[in-house]
Amino acid sequence: MDTVVSVAGLVKRYGDVTAVDGISFEVGRGEIFGLLGPNGAGKTTTVECIEGLRVPDAGRIEVLGEVPSPANYALKSRLGIQLQGTAFLSRLTVEETLRLFAALYPRHRSIRELIEFAALGEKRRAQVGKLSGGQRQRLAVALALVNDPELLVLDEPTAGLDPQARRALWELILSLKGEGKTVLLTTHYMEEAEYLCDRVLILDHGRIIAQGSPEALIAEHFRETPIEVVLADAGADVDLSSLPGVERAVGDGEEVVLYSAAPVETIQALSDLSRRGTIELRDLRLRRISLEDVYLLLTGRRIRG
Ligand SMILES: Nc1ncnc2c1ncn2[C@@H]1O[C@H](COP(=O)(O)OP(=O)(O)OP(=O)(O)O)[C@@H](O)[C@H]1O
Ligand SMILES: [Mg+2]
Repeated sequence: MDTVVSVAGLVKRYGDVTAVDGISFEVGRGEIFGLLGPNGAGKTTTVECIEGLRVPDAGRIEVLGEVPSPANYALKSRLGIQLQGTAFLSRLTVEETLRLFAALYPRHRSIRELIEFAALGEKRRAQVGKLSGGQRQRLAVALALVNDPELLVLDEPTAGLDPQARRALWELILSLKGEGKTVLLTTHYMEEAEYLCDRVLILDHGRIIAQGSPEALIAEHFRETPIEVVLADAGADVDLSSLPGVERAVGDGEEVVLYSAAPVETIQALSDLSRRGTIELRDLRLRRISLEDVYLLLTGRRIRG
């Protein structure tokens, strides 16, 4: 693997809070690598250390063979950065914003090409403050590309977008991979991570709880079929995890996911309980295993897109 990012034993504290607690991983050239984890897991802190915006308390980071730091401008010119919640000058137009950023670099991609790439042709003369959330995010990614970087670091590039806008950005990110760029991104959307990422790393409380390709993580953790059960009464006094076939149950209250090695038997048992009035079933769904299940299992939380 041609390593583009190498992180070894990274620790970052803010006062008493250890935001990142000794993590190590590598990102190879041409990969789309995803950092996942609940709010406050340390994702942004990690990417900010990689970007050279924050100085680690311990550990070693190498990016494109250099040590990132606030003063390492040579490295910065080879990175494309989209921060979580990019602030724009709202009175400038899309085109003016791109020109402003382009002027910061000795070499930059053509503005016309970037506008086309971000599908902002119709908005090139619109003020940035008047763009929709999706258009703003696409502009943020276009800005990260202005210097034609080797490595793109995108912190929640699709946060808050509708499914269509999100898909459009996915295709844009995949096309970057097609150009041979390396992409490090953070996301809360497991579907996105599964679709885009070659490998992911799941962080919780500043520590790595899993890493690997989405397929490998799924195969490693699950052989069962998830059955989503919605109960009318959260207080129903039944232990669904002891039903036939159920290997484990996750969730509490009204929504439970039963991971079953014998889904037909589990569903029969559920329907028996329902017929007898022991439980009141609102809904019952079978679905395929996804990265979301791995995430739910490992973090004990569910984040919905
Ligand atoms: N500037 C700061 N000063 C003090 N504490 C901070 C600062 N930035 C982050 N933290 C704390 O560090 C921890 C990690 O935060 P971080 O922003 O890295 O998480 P995250 O995984 O990006 O979360 P989110 O999904 O909400 O974006 C949190 O407990 C947060 O409160
Ligand atoms: Mg963050």
